[in-house]
Amino acid sequence: MNARILATSPLVGPALKELGAVIAPFRSAEWNAALPEVEALVVLLSEPLTESDLAKAPKLKAIATYSVGVNHLPLAACETRGIRILSTPGVLTDATADLALTLLLAVTRRVAEGERMVRSGRWTGWAPDQLLGTGLAGKVCGILGAGAIGKAFARRVWALGMQPIFWDREGTGGTVSFGVCESPRVPLPKLLESSAVLSLHCPLTHATRGLLGLKELERLPKGAILINTARGGIVDEPSALALLRAGHLGGVGLDVYEGEPKLHPAWLDAPRTVLLPHLGSATVETRAAMARLLRDGIAETLQIS
Ligand code: DGY
Repeated sequence: MNARILATSPLVGPALKELGAVIAPFRSAEWNAALPEVEALVVLLSEPLTESDLAKAPKLKAIATYSVGVNHLPLAACETRGIRILSTPGVLTDATADLALTLLLAVTRRVAEGERMVRSGRWTGWAPDQLLGTGLAGKVCGILGAGAIGKAFARRVWALGMQPIFWDREGTGGTVSFGVCESPRVPLPKLLESSAVLSLHCPLTHATRGLLGLKELERLPKGAILINTARGGIVDEPSALALLRAGHLGGVGLDVYEGEPKLHPAWLDAPRTVLLPHLGSATVETRAAMARLLRDGIAETLQIS
């Protein structure tokens, strides 16, 4: 197979077809056979490319990942070889922030439990104390990561009457403007100690891997809600599970997991938890826009008009 552009699966919309990309499953015999001639690779966030993959692709000029996260790519090796990394910032900001909000509301208003009760026929009627949740207005929402998605999430929780505060790797002090308002950027311990809700919106890097271990999560106020739509490796899941079972965490909403799609088995029957299968960018509009962005980046890199 002689492919200039090799993708591991079709993407949403016509963008990839317009480029004439060849499709072969990740690390299949066809995929491996195409590497020597390939100039652009298109991969998914679940396909961790390695330096040895790159070594088989001497003509490679660009790697396009159908995600904003690039933690599954050999970034240093790409930099050394001058291989361009194309990802999808910007176009999935609202979709991902919407999903984080969905998780927050689902956890605090016990949506999944209620739905299961109705479907299973266990609902016998309205009761004054049935499935009582937790209100959000007036509470502090700690946002880890003051990039586009963190700010978009801040706008959403601000509209619910919450007070966003931020931490990010840019340092502490000052404020972060998120369009409708601005909020303080604080040191991590202060963010943790103040947050009734903690939502993760930073990339997974060497600096953020394991950022939230037991010691950090214990700093959260009792009953705090943890939402993760970023990457599983940022939070130590066994610690989060232990604190949830002990009642220190009031609820957890997850879209991402360390080692996904495998889950730590204890999540499956964890209380006050809503689990989603990495749906952050999963809208038709967003996935089509992501594909167009990659198409344009590949066309520019390979000078295809
Ligand atoms: C990404 O694209 O990296 C996000 O995880 C989507 O949810």
